[in-house]
Amino acid sequence: MKRRTAILISGRGSNMVSLIEAAAAPGFPAEIALILSNRPDAGGLARAAAAGLATATIDHKAYPDRESFERALDEALTQAGIELVCLAGFMRVLTPWFVERWTGRMLNIHPSLLPAFRGTHTHERALAEGVLIHGCTVHFVVPELDAGPIVAQAAVRVLPGDTPETLGARVLAQEHVLYPQALRMVAGGLVRLENGRVVRALGGG
Ligand code: GRF
Repeated sequence: MKRRTAILISGRGSNMVSLIEAAAAPGFPAEIALILSNRPDAGGLARAAAAGLATATIDHKAYPDRESFERALDEALTQAGIELVCLAGFMRVLTPWFVERWTGRMLNIHPSLLPAFRGTHTHERALAEGVLIHGCTVHFVVPELDAGPIVAQAAVRVLPGDTPETLGARVLAQEHVLYPQALRMVAGGLVRLENGRVVRALGGG
């Protein structure tokens, strides 16, 4: 049985597209059952609809507080029978209440080699620090921002003359490869979270 998976987005949704494309393969252990955006104008919504997928918008601005927004989010996921959640450029900080409900079942992709460069502007900061290796990370989501146990990482060499844009573009290309691999491992049961630590079966990276 394929695991019913939701992708949460706020923007253009290029990682979402890579997950949708990977999940279209017959043997892939997850099916993308819902695309949820907190922004009605997210470019990814049209791309998801064009792929024939169910989409929904839960506009955080329509809710008086974070908790009521998250209750609506949780209800939409539960109603759709969702088992796994992939955050893909989802720009809302989630409360411990929501994160704990989805512990071990919610992934995020971050454009750096965590634990380096949590937060935003990761490519600018990597260049400013002069690192030679940069990259991206897929991790289980925990209440602390960009801090969860690591499922998979991909490294990118920093090249002379790189700008945040050129470096970011090479990292993004790796994100599009890495996120489907990570979802395959988690949905297929090769990687799981146990007592706050990642447990890997043979073949789990
Ligand atoms: C990606 O760089 C991802 O790592 C970060 O937000 C960006 C989302 O891009 N979390 P996209 O919407 O998937 O194109």
